[in-house]
Amino acid sequence: MEFKKIGVLTSGGDAPGMNAVIRAVTRAANAAGVETLGIFDGYQGLMDGNVVAFTESDVSNIIGKGGTVLYTARAAEFKEPSGMEKALKTCRDHEIDGIIAIGGDGTFRGANDLTAHGMPTIGLTGTIDNDITATDYTVGFDTAMNTVLECVDRLRDTCESHARCSVVEVMGRDAGYIALQSGIATGAIGIVIKEIPFDEDAMMQRIIKARASGRRSFVVIVAEGVKDENGKPYGEGLTARIEEKTEVEARFVRLAHIVRGGSPTLRDRLAASLMGEAAVKLLLEGKSNLVVCERNAKIVAFEINFALTLDKMYKNKLKIGDLDRFSAAEIHEMEGLAELRRREIREMYNAALALM
Ligand code: F6P
Repeated sequence: MEFKKIGVLTSGGDAPGMNAVIRAVTRAANAAGVETLGIFDGYQGLMDGNVVAFTESDVSNIIGKGGTVLYTARAAEFKEPSGMEKALKTCRDHEIDGIIAIGGDGTFRGANDLTAHGMPTIGLTGTIDNDITATDYTVGFDTAMNTVLECVDRLRDTCESHARCSVVEVMGRDAGYIALQSGIATGAIGIVIKEIPFDEDAMMQRIIKARASGRRSFVVIVAEGVKDENGKPYGEGLTARIEEKTEVEARFVRLAHIVRGGSPTLRDRLAASLMGEAAVKLLLEGKSNLVVCERNAKIVAFEINFALTLDKMYKNKLKIGDLDRFSAAEIHEMEGLAELRRREIREMYNAALALM
């Protein structure tokens, strides 16, 4: 089929670099003689017909801008048949031939539904959490970690002055990648993530020993997804226990959404640009229902169903029947990738421990 118009939307939590993707999609489409339509407010805007033609000038100077110029929204109705009907009507009204949807796993579920209803859709990862198992990298991750670094470096100054410990909670509802990598890069004395059992006593001993030998400042990084036995954020209780057990004064800091904003780093601008260009190419080649990923520094694409099921496998959330539609070779590939991610995180955590 001949493509005349591509729609682009951002959905779910925003991430630095989303604008660089929007720019890349618009430019690559334009270069191929295809018009780009910006769909505002994610799937909500697709249902509401909130669609505007995007020209080159609409995307000039946005490569370094944080957030998303297309805005984002949660859209519960999109999961209902009535929501899909409205979205398809918008596509018909605006003669949209294909959609590029930027976001995380919720965004890809929407992309999958659109494809199932005859609207070719390609997904592209935009989430600070780096929690899409099929890809080595998600757009936004590097900027988020650099922001954590900047904040923790500042906390380090005041901890050093007061001989204190900062317990810093960083985003990552389901994944500890931000906590783990920024923990290593800030010289944390403890890193708490869901994926690896945390030895709290060993960390207390490290703090006591280091304090006795004259160290004044301590940083502990905790992923927000880790909760205590009462379902409360783990870092809050941990802060009190550090004071009790080590006699080092401790303060709890939640970085939260601060880490989602800001101008994207080179890593994110580059990934966004290359992935955006690749997504347009895939659509124009007639491909659909794929998510653009990075594997071993190359841009590749996986079936969205494959990527979503792999995520479930990695998080041990597979339900009976989830694997039925896949061949033995595909299941084998999924198992290999899930194991690779688990190994990567284990090995990195062990290296972090050796450096504490
Ligand atoms: O972008 C992903 C994420 O940052 C998670 O780590 C976090 O739990 C979530 O978004 C919170 O997003 P919001 O407050 O926008 O719902």
